Amino acid sequence: MAEATQSGDDHIVEMEGITKTFGEVVALEDVTFRLRRNEILALAGDNGAGKSTLIKCLAGALQPDSGTIRVDGEVVEIPNPRVSKDLGIETTFQDLAVAGNLTVTQNIFLGREAVSGPDTLFGVLDKPAMRKRAQELLDDLEIHVDVAEKVSNLSGGERQLVSISRTLLSDPKIVIMDEPTSALSVEGADRVLELIDRMQKQGISIVLISHNLDYIRRAADRIHVLHQGRSAGIIDATDFDQDEIVKRMVGGMPEEERDEQTADV
Ligand SMILES: Nc1ncnc2c1ncn2[C@@H]1O[C@H](COP(=O)(O)OP(=O)(O)OP(=O)(O)O)[C@@H](O)[C@H]1O
Ligand SMILES: [Mg+2]
Repeated sequence: MAEATQSGDDHIVEMEGITKTFGEVVALEDVTFRLRRNEILALAGDNGAGKSTLIKCLAGALQPDSGTIRVDGEVVEIPNPRVSKDLGIETTFQDLAVAGNLTVTQNIFLGREAVSGPDTLFGVLDKPAMRKRAQELLDDLEIHVDVAEKVSNLSGGERQLVSISRTLLSDPKIVIMDEPTSALSVEGADRVLELIDRMQKQGISIVLISHNLDYIRRAADRIHVLHQGRSAGIIDATDFDQDEIVKRMVGGMPEEERDEQTADV
């Protein structure tokens, strides 16, 4: 197990032996998932493969039944989203992107209340200051939406851009994006890919969940495939082979590789 203690150098996140069940449903079974420093790792898999469940375990939204999580080489427990954020992890969820009845600024600051102490951030920071900070953030990212606008008045794509931009407010080490391009036009998705690229240049390590293999090809350094709650292998983007990825998405890890893994243990 000497390897595991050293691997904190190369890997910013290591999830090992993760199992998660929902009643009878085994959403994840003994999954090992490692994110290298400063890489863009795509997480691919069919509907129900367990992608969202896996990253929710890292985001503190779900607790695995068993398994170990290391961040920066240290074993961590992530009982809630606050702890995940404190570890430098920001997540955009597939099913909970933004709150429609709030403005763009309020959405960007949402959930950060505890950061500045016992009072709510809205109480501590005056509204103009928040608006200014939100505007700077969006300007930096070249996202042209009005920060005073209600999110319900934005297009689906603009909402996704706001949802992604808010992950950058806290200067995270790790950003996880669950289907950030699913509601977007080709142009909108291109913007998101540019944004992801920019995040990587800033030194952030990124997990990108997507069903779109073309976006994965364009963005990812490696592709981790899940199949029915089990790991179906990792492919280097330099050897990107769409047929190979689809084969693993549909059929799981090839027999030979499974045998190799068993032999390693
Ligand atoms: N809260 C829950 N309660 C019960 N079952 C759940 C829950 N969340 C996920 N599941 C089940 O766990 C399995 C994995 O779901 P998950 O959402 O992680 O898949 P996914 O890979 O993200 O799929 P998609 O591509 O459709 O988003 C599925 O069988 C799903 O029905
Ligand atoms: Mg999902």
